[in-house]
Amino acid sequence: MDRLDKFLCDCGLGTRSQVKALLKSGRITVDGIAVKDGNIKINTQAACVCLDGERVSAAGTVVVILNKPAGYVTATEDATEPTVMQLLPTQLRKLDLKPVGRLDKQTEGLLLFTNDGELLHRLISPKKQVPKVYYARHEGTASQEDVLAFSEGLTLRDGSRCLPAKLKPLGAGESLISVCEGKYHQVRRMMASRGMPVTYLERREEAFLKLGDLPRGAVRVLTEEEIRLLGK
Ligand code: URA
Repeated sequence: MDRLDKFLCDCGLGTRSQVKALLKSGRITVDGIAVKDGNIKINTQAACVCLDGERVSAAGTVVVILNKPAGYVTATEDATEPTVMQLLPTQLRKLDLKPVGRLDKQTEGLLLFTNDGELLHRLISPKKQVPKVYYARHEGTASQEDVLAFSEGLTLRDGSRCLPAKLKPLGAGESLISVCEGKYHQVRRMMASRGMPVTYLERREEAFLKLGDLPRGAVRVLTEEEIRLLGK
């Protein structure tokens, strides 16, 4: 048994006084009931403690999905550019979350963050073959020869080799691309190597996770079940 306010601090939701303010605002629920008194004792193993309906947990693995808008760099800090960290709500910024891989400044879509270094490395390791699906608008139209070249593993213009990937033409100037690695500007360089420069790129899926109807710029904290399915 632990005091509710101490547990919320342990979850990284802020200092004692910030947690007190959160409780006062009625955004914290314990087993579905709004609780404003931080003095109450809870069974931290069994109680379902939520902030704005999302379960919080102490020192456990936290994974967040962001639907990244264009114009933000994937970095924890940058001297001149806005970073994806600025898109996280303040209570999540305290959790020492790191972006999982990177999306280019102009790329939109699914970007994961986690506080779990081991999970992060697993998700970005090409050895683990975690698929990432991108929607691209591009010059030209992808052909069956392009599909075959992707499936055999492309050679980029600088001579580097890519693992086999999937290309699905959607019609003139539109394709879905599925890759299991994350080289610098990978999809743009893959498409450029086939003479189809990308004009717009959005990541739609990573592992079994999909952007779904998450609005651009919004975040969602993964459930414990989703984290388990990611291999935790
Ligand atoms: N490939 C790219 O070229 N850019 C991204 O942001 C992600 C994958």
